[in-house]
Amino acid sequence: EKITHSAEEAQKGGFSTFMMKEIHDQPRAVRNSVRGHLDFDNATTSLGGLHMNPKELASIDRIQLFACGTSLNAALLGQYFFEDLVGIPCQVTQAADFRYRNPIIEKNTLAIALSQSGETADTLAAVHEAKRKGADLIAICNAVGSTIAREAGRGVYLHAGPEISVASTKAFTTQVSVLLQLAILLGRTKRLDRGQAADILKAIDQLPEQIEEVLKLSDSIRTITEKYTDVHSMFFIGRGYQYPVALEGALKVKEISYIHAEGYHAAELKHGPLALLDEKVPVVAICTNKDSAQKIVSNIRECSSRKSPVIAVVSEGIETPADDSITIPQAHPTTAPILAAVALQLFSFHIADLRGCSIDQPKNLAKSVTVE
Ligand code: G6P
Repeated sequence: EKITHSAEEAQKGGFSTFMMKEIHDQPRAVRNSVRGHLDFDNATTSLGGLHMNPKELASIDRIQLFACGTSLNAALLGQYFFEDLVGIPCQVTQAADFRYRNPIIEKNTLAIALSQSGETADTLAAVHEAKRKGADLIAICNAVGSTIAREAGRGVYLHAGPEISVASTKAFTTQVSVLLQLAILLGRTKRLDRGQAADILKAIDQLPEQIEEVLKLSDSIRTITEKYTDVHSMFFIGRGYQYPVALEGALKVKEISYIHAEGYHAAELKHGPLALLDEKVPVVAICTNKDSAQKIVSNIRECSSRKSPVIAVVSEGIETPADDSITIPQAHPTTAPILAAVALQLFSFHIADLRGCSIDQPKNLAKSVTVE
């Protein structure tokens, strides 16, 4: 049979863009990011690339994470994991700021560089600064043998496979997966008990299938986005674990659809954004936690009363007065952000596609920023 597709089309695996292909890679990518790491017998994880013995792991009492772009949003989720599950202070710093602001590296601080490409100039410079200050350093990278991975000398690879699209998708979800695995490992040397850890391991194990469920929502998400292709501005709001996801959802929309989009903590709405809301400014509200659902519901009402159309990303079983809803599977609070992020990747993809944007090559952006 005659071959009718180019090499690039073949690489896209039947999808029209690398971004959509990579969004659909995620069940496999996330599975690869956990392969061989989940230790159900001891209710912990094993991350051999860290080259740290139990005593060294147990002695870590502070974490400094640094990254840029989407990786920075993943790092913010990591901060919640380390504080909630390990019970140690964790600071997240934009990598350029880390380099220039005289970061505090105490004894027993673990510095973590987070970078898909392993080549981002600011993150690399921050690696040098952390090393210069004598920090224990690890890198969490996707690109095997990349500069940051080599300079750190130890760490965890994402195993997400090559990410070609400028807008990062599977790197984000696998970064969150790896940070969660690291939090379980460190948490089990401290306050995380066996039962809590076992619940999270189970939740991680279910992720690939649950991501498949979210991917099935693609057409219905596209139908929702049809209403919003002409807007000039939108907001994404979330609380707790879903706050970094709101930032990431907004970043995706900005990057590929050129619509001004801002991610906000839902509680910050009344400290500014409410002044900008009207019928032309949609709000995407993420609500996957039953315990805080009432708070988001009142935020949705605040937006609706300013006539903003509201699109809610909710877990099964959560009802809101939003105009449109994207319902994702119910999940553990630590893994629900991954599912919500996938739904928002689809949301940003469809809005950009309907606007005719060049999705894999957004204007003015580069996949890897190797200059300061
Ligand atoms: C660029 C890319 C983003 C990425 C960021 C950090 O801005 O366009 O998608 O998140 O760099 O890249 P890194 O490779 O360090 O994760």
